[in-house]
Amino acid sequence: MKRVLIKNIGCLQTPTGSYSHKGSKQGRNVKLEDAAVAVEDGIIKQITEGGRLPEGEFDKIIDAEGKLVTPGLVDGHTHLVFGGYRQNEIPMKLAGAGYLDILNAGGGILDTVRKTRDMSFEELYSKSQGFLNEMLALGVTTCEAKSGYGLDLENEIKMLKVIKALDEKHPMDVVPTFMGAHAIPPEYEGRGGEYIDMLCKEVIPQVRRQGLAEFCDIFCEDSVFDARQSKKYMEKARQEGFDLKIHADEIEDIGGSKLAGEMEAVSAEHLIAAGEEGMDSMAEGGTTAMLLPATSFYLDKTYAPARRMIEKGIPVAIASDFNPGSCPSLNLQLTINLGYLKYKMTPEEVLTAVTINPACAIGRGDMVGTLEENKQADMVIWNATDMEMLCYRFGSNLAHKIIKKGELIK
Ligand code: NIG
Ligand code: FE
Repeated sequence: MKRVLIKNIGCLQTPTGSYSHKGSKQGRNVKLEDAAVAVEDGIIKQITEGGRLPEGEFDKIIDAEGKLVTPGLVDGHTHLVFGGYRQNEIPMKLAGAGYLDILNAGGGILDTVRKTRDMSFEELYSKSQGFLNEMLALGVTTCEAKSGYGLDLENEIKMLKVIKALDEKHPMDVVPTFMGAHAIPPEYEGRGGEYIDMLCKEVIPQVRRQGLAEFCDIFCEDSVFDARQSKKYMEKARQEGFDLKIHADEIEDIGGSKLAGEMEAVSAEHLIAAGEEGMDSMAEGGTTAMLLPATSFYLDKTYAPARRMIEKGIPVAIASDFNPGSCPSLNLQLTINLGYLKYKMTPEEVLTAVTINPACAIGRGDMVGTLEENKQADMVIWNATDMEMLCYRFGSNLAHKIIKKGELIK
């Protein structure tokens, strides 16, 4: 048995419990001063405070030097695996083209689909592995990753196998989501309904059979998939045993958030344009709001109504949305700044939004997302004294040391 002690923690700040936190609970964190954590074989065995130390001998001692320690961050929404990049879109954007204009002209997601289809498993694996290394160094210890740049059976399966291999071989825990309904592929141009039927008939059951995903996601958006098509896809996914996610109300409110609540989706993503009816439905359905503020920044849009969501009792999570188009940043620390400044969430609410709430929304709330006995010892020692500092400083990497399953990674 390997025993590790993390001592001399100035402040250990964490939400508690293995469930999503909503309303006033979103802002409830425990703060332990002069704390220490004892870890056995990657699992937290004991947490002490007030200068007391856990009993026993340790194989390794990590000195937190009086700094802030939080749970490892959880990025609950990424499009981690993709071919190519899309810097060529920026001049079009600056000249006034909208996100959907570029997509409708055959660019955007479809450009990445061409490049992803052209890449081998090995090429995609090595590129995505590089991204995971960057994320880990920034304090993210668990993430979700979506398919959705293959848009046919072979290439969607290829992407999901890359995600599976990354989860198995990389220190990061990576949770797979099938997102075959990310755009209408060129072969089905003008026939989105037929594409959804094909996904339901051929691809969803195959992904299930091969055990390659835990969640199914769909881009419910004007000129992509409408609410009726989304419902059909989600019903099939549920019937096959998947939990549901939906990209909803990113640009237009076409009923995505309302559908999310009605279908009791685990999470609805984006929600920049979500209205009262959609939010009420989500509160009713127990759906987490997976908010993506770096995408609002990058698309030069408004910010989702996070305070209203907290008021309505919707659990709020904040994620990166890392992808080659609307958010080519995997820096979850930047979303902490945006959550504080743009969503006007408190530092405690923000911490919940990047730890336990996304952990629950990707099915890992019982293992990660808080620092408590019997949970996985995933934690970050920050170059900061408190969460306020993390919310305030931006643009630097404030992660000092990263501990994953009790092992010092950085
Ligand atoms: O969540 N909105 C749809 N999907 C991604 C963007 C993907 C892309 O542009 O490549 C998102 O923002
Ligand atoms: Fe997304």
